[in-house]
Amino acid sequence: MKLNTLFKPITALLVSIVAAHSSAQDDTDHQYTSEAVAAGLRVYTQQCALCHGPEGGLVDGINLSRGEFRNASSDADLRDVIAGGAAAGRMPAFSLSIEELSGVIAYIRAGFDPEGVAIKIGDPERGRALFEGKGECAECHRVNGSGPYTAPDLTSIGSLRTPASLQRNLLDPASAILPINRPVRLVTRNEETVAGRRLNEDTYTVQMVDSQNRLRSFVKTDLVSYEISMEPSKGPTNLSSEEVADVIGYLLTLRGKK
Ligand code: HEC
Ligand code: HEC
Repeated sequence: MKLNTLFKPITALLVSIVAAHSSAQDDTDHQYTSEAVAAGLRVYTQQCALCHGPEGGLVDGINLSRGEFRNASSDADLRDVIAGGAAAGRMPAFSLSIEELSGVIAYIRAGFDPEGVAIKIGDPERGRALFEGKGECAECHRVNGSGPYTAPDLTSIGSLRTPASLQRNLLDPASAILPINRPVRLVTRNEETVAGRRLNEDTYTVQMVDSQNRLRSFVKTDLVSYEISMEPSKGPTNLSSEEVADVIGYLLTLRGKK
């Protein structure tokens, strides 16, 4: 009995320590620390710059600072190339410590900016499966001609947004909202109520996609009411940080035209 009452506050304390710890870690989980980026700069200068050049663009078809590779896409791919070498030994295999290895990847992901933010980028194939399945992204977003119009079409998102902005959209959507994409609700003089997403607006008209995926245009003087919602359309994702990295990896491959 006595033991039991003694234990309770201890367990409660433990739970709160664990919770505080994991929430403090949350941000860095999704991205590399600035220490890693700094360590990566040292590794890069000593071991990589000789061939790839200080700006990362000396090897044909590859620009490390701009994230342009021939085959690699995820952080795991980069790890394989660096630890295993490439092009039949023209790039040698490096035996780096785990810190050096993730440091140099962090430096590449930060775009060679020692003060840059280096977002972790996971596996595009897994990311695609998450996008269509567990992540429920495909329930709102359209890609390559399939899916609803309720949210912005993401067919070209990989060439429009940086990894950091994609990540912010998933972790803190309320801060990443583009005002033009706001949900709207209007009532016409004919007493039709239309809800949807705003695409465009000028002084006299508003264009939107309604809930049946139809493009609609309204003259404002024909409207009895017109409301723009400032509520975020979605909450922060429930995906783990590894899964978020995979989804970002997938979004970055979406570079097609709509
Ligand atoms: C001796 C020259 C040399 C050095 C040193 C070197 N590389 Fe390379 N690296 C190459 C060559 C050549 C290629 C192109 C391989 C190919 O043709 O696919 C390459 C390719 C790459 C790629 C692109 C892989 C892809 O899929 O396109 C990455 C990433 C890379 N190197 C990173 C590094 C890093 C990080 C270092 C330092 C730890 C490094 N390299 C050091 C020569 C080098
Ligand atoms: C409930 C519907 C819904 C779900 C589910 C959803 N989104 Fe969104 N998303 C939106 C809306 C609506 C916007 C437009 C911005 C706003 O209104 O908040 C948006 C914006 C975005 C943007 C920014 C587009 C731009 O032009 O910058 C990205 C990227 C994105 N979502 C990715 C995702 C991914 C990845 C998932 C799955 C993990 C997801 N969304 C799940 C509704 C949704």
